Amino acid sequence: MKAAIIYTSVTGNTSTLAEIIGEKMSKHNIETELIPVDEFQPERLHDYDIVTVGTYSWDNGDLPIEMEEVFEAFEDQEVKHITTGVFGTGDSFYPYYCGAVDIFRDMLYVHTNLAVTLKVELTPQEEDLHRCEKFCDRLLSEFAVVS
Ligand SMILES: Cc1cc2nc3c(=O)[nH]c(=O)nc-3n(C[C@H](O)[C@H](O)[C@H](O)COP(=O)(O)O)c2cc1C
Repeated sequence: MKAAIIYTSVTGNTSTLAEIIGEKMSKHNIETELIPVDEFQPERLHDYDIVTVGTYSWDNGDLPIEMEEVFEAFEDQEVKHITTGVFGTGDSFYPYYCGAVDIFRDMLYVHTNLAVTLKVELTPQEEDLHRCEKFCDRLLSEFAVVS
């Protein structure tokens, strides 16, 4: 079984969250590749059974431009068999909190076996660790149902 986390981060909040989720996955004995978006290869998407996407939000809850290629790869390829999750960090000061997570969620729900979503306010805090654990539990139990 192969798992990957594809993520983007400018100021480090989402990459911290990606690392926490990667660690939680390894505690379940699941080796998870951490892929920064600039290393993403669309043709390799098929290689994975579980993919989680991590993104911050920008410009009125929008997707960061660098995540568009990832978004389109899921839309354009046959990926119904992949179990997915989406997580992100945002700032509730903005009217559309973590809007990019919602945008990915709606697309992944249509094109993949979407299991779970997670929104975190800015830098992950102690209380978010448990939420990350739940995120992984949910992802893996959904994967177990389809595999
Ligand atoms: C210009 C600008 C626009 C932003 N717009 C939003 C937004 O619409 N919704 C939101 O939840 N957060 C918004 N944010 C907050 C970032 O998503 C948040 O700081 C995030 O944790 C950054 O992630 P990173 O540290 O991984 O780069 C915005 C931040 C900036 C600087």
